[in-house]
Amino acid sequence: MSRLDVTESFQGIKFPGHMHTEESLNFATDFKFEETDTLIVTYPKSGTTWMQEILTLVLSKGDPTIAQSQPNWARAPWLEQYYCPEVLKASSGPRIITTHLPYHLLAPALQHCKAKVIYVARNVKDVCVSYYHFHKMANFLPDPGTFPEFLKNFLKGDVHYGSWFDHVNGWTGHAKNFQNFFYITYEEMFQDLRGSLQKVSHFLQCTLCKEELNLAEKHCSFNSMKENAMVNYTLIPKEIIDHSKGKFMRKGKVGDWKNMFTEEQSGLVDEVYFSQMADSSLLFQWDQP
Ligand code: A3P
Repeated sequence: MSRLDVTESFQGIKFPGHMHTEESLNFATDFKFEETDTLIVTYPKSGTTWMQEILTLVLSKGDPTIAQSQPNWARAPWLEQYYCPEVLKASSGPRIITTHLPYHLLAPALQHCKAKVIYVARNVKDVCVSYYHFHKMANFLPDPGTFPEFLKNFLKGDVHYGSWFDHVNGWTGHAKNFQNFFYITYEEMFQDLRGSLQKVSHFLQCTLCKEELNLAEKHCSFNSMKENAMVNYTLIPKEIIDHSKGKFMRKGKVGDWKNMFTEEQSGLVDEVYFSQMADSSLLFQWDQP
């Protein structure tokens, strides 16, 4: 299967050109947020789809009907992708919007923003491994080459959607600019899904009773989502995502990087991490039990 090999560059950052255009990226950067909007923000492979499912289930009080009948991009569209205006036009009620854009590109649109912002971060090493495997099956991304080659480009920020370090620093470093900002990690969701659901529902001011929480927890587990065609990307044609080369819902684990990184590679990432994240309060938290 040949790669689509279309890239849209916007303000120095590469985006997959089959979903992004200059017009769609301008639409995102000029977007008028509403108070009732909830914006999910992530660097790719950090738990975006998981958070989309969590929000859907919390807002449906654990009822899986919407989660199992509407694709994630139709219920929580990516702001920067070309179809977003159409989806938003057709939607009613409070909107869930997703974005992978770095902070600096959305900063002007977010000034004085009262929308709720949820930032999900994941251990950079697990993101890198997940992204590498995703490149192999996503024909809209370039061939990643060998893992050492990909890692080199990833650490330089020379990958689609730009640098992980800039993304995490940009958003978490400006959290105080938002009236409603909620930060959570993939690791926390993995370790305590129920507690994470409770925190998210509290943030959304949509409290769930015990039975509703049970249902939400069941339907956003890795095993349920793996089987849900509305989130496992099996609806996407093979020319775009080739499921014979891997699974979108791949492993869903914390620490899978240990199966991929050599000691030397791990040390290299630590070095870059400590230099680039020196001002961040997020240091070390990935490895906490
Ligand atoms: P892996 O490739 O490590 O398995 P995104 O949605 O941001 O692209 O992130 C995809 C990653 O999140 C994949 O990681 C995927 O398996 C994982 N994921 C999605 N839903 C999950 C869930 N319910 N529990 C654990 N991991 C999940």
